[in-house]
Amino acid sequence: MKISIDRNKSMPLYLQIKNQIEEGIISGIYPNGFVFPSERKLAENLKVNRNTIIKAYEKLKDDDLVDSKIGMGTYVIYEKIIRDSKDVYKEIYWDQVVGNFSFENSIDIMTKIMSDVKEKKTISLSGGFPSKEFFPDKIFHEITEELFAKKVDVFFQTPVKGDKQFRNVLQSYLYDNKSIIANQRELMVTSGAQQGISLIIQNFISPGDKILVENPSFFGALQLFKKSGAQIVTSNLKRTGLDLDHVEYQLKKNKIKFIYLLPNYQNPTGNLMDLKSRKDILYLAKKYYTPIIEEDPYGELYFDYYMPTLKSLDKDNYVIYVSTFSKTISPGFRIGYIVADDQVIKKLTLLKQFVDIHANTLSQHLIGEFIKKGFYEEHLSNMRKLYKENRDVMTGYLKEISDFSKWSIPNGGYYIWIELYKNMPMKIFLDESIKKGVDFIPGEFFFSNAFEGKNYIRLNYTYSKNKDIKKGMEILIETIKQFI
Ligand SMILES: Cc1ncc(COP(=O)(O)O)c(C=O)c1O
Repeated sequence: MKISIDRNKSMPLYLQIKNQIEEGIISGIYPNGFVFPSERKLAENLKVNRNTIIKAYEKLKDDDLVDSKIGMGTYVIYEKIIRDSKDVYKEIYWDQVVGNFSFENSIDIMTKIMSDVKEKKTISLSGGFPSKEFFPDKIFHEITEELFAKKVDVFFQTPVKGDKQFRNVLQSYLYDNKSIIANQRELMVTSGAQQGISLIIQNFISPGDKILVENPSFFGALQLFKKSGAQIVTSNLKRTGLDLDHVEYQLKKNKIKFIYLLPNYQNPTGNLMDLKSRKDILYLAKKYYTPIIEEDPYGELYFDYYMPTLKSLDKDNYVIYVSTFSKTISPGFRIGYIVADDQVIKKLTLLKQFVDIHANTLSQHLIGEFIKKGFYEEHLSNMRKLYKENRDVMTGYLKEISDFSKWSIPNGGYYIWIELYKNMPMKIFLDESIKKGVDFIPGEFFFSNAFEGKNYIRLNYTYSKNKDIKKGMEILIETIKQFI
């Protein structure tokens, strides 16, 4: 049996052992009936206390993966799930899925980061913002003048679901560029993607409901899930994407209400889910009758090739698709959107009316014109070029710490996710970096378990100017070397 333990990690040893055995069982390495070494023998092999193994085996028993008998020892009682069954639901009935209403305020970590980025004199490698110098202000100035000259009514309200003309533009844009077919009843404009997620949670999640998320995942969503009283079930995100055997195991074991995924250049890992995994996850959603919330703020910012969204691959309406213009145009406009079954949109629209009536009218007109006049495509293509250059600058510096860390180079999006081989005293490390002039986001925010993420950091390469990224990286590398 190949089990590795790392005493530098904050995760307790019994859990490290339990997790690795669990992975082996679910992936079929330890098949049904496989007998594990005795507690004493495994403890000797791994040079840990016997109680550590007892606890690991107990946890596996609690999860119905193993059993034990006197004279026989501990053995696997789990049958690997074969994923070629035709036994899937074809159509999803949203009225069976959507349930009660619950609401609590969410903790606002974002607010702190946003005000820090604005006020601090430090170089920011932390927030998830687009480049400021890159904002097409001249074009937006002209569009604004034109709107006012034409006396377009930007001072009054729009329908709750959004301005009709803007929704038409969006509908065509989604069809032409993302192969998403949505009619007007299946589309609503929101005040950013964060509101999209928030409306979905408030409407459809009740305390105790289980949500399956990638581990790690976007902290804004994790906070909202926790505040709603939902139980977060995690599946580890590996470099190749989600472990679908583990996802299926969780779907089978738990009654999961929603799967929440960021398939494109995930926040924080920058991971891109491959096409096969996308198809497999849709298959699993159908097999276990579990809808997917697909969040996609970064999909248009690809550096090499475009990857189809789950929504465009989903022929049976299982996906609620949430996206935004915050990452591609401006977070200040506060414009995002949701594409979903019309029953879902109906419920979300009603809630949005309670929350803020509608998204900003002027912002909708500005973005609508920007897309219609063909500026958006050109802007996106310039953004991809600039961000790819910034990414290369950043990863160039990272080579200096390759002896004690690892990362993968993202093919799009905003972030680089770095695993340091040693747990860091994160608060002191961050304070010291800020004192020297650069910030970042500690990895622990992106995990739902408090003990995880102490050796990860997330870096952003889109907000700061190229020359500041260079300076910031020099400082950061120096600070990491000081602590490692
Ligand atoms: C996954 C994800 N969702 C939502 C947001 C916030 O988007 P918006 O400004 O559109 O609310 C972010 C920003 O960091 C994000 O990464």
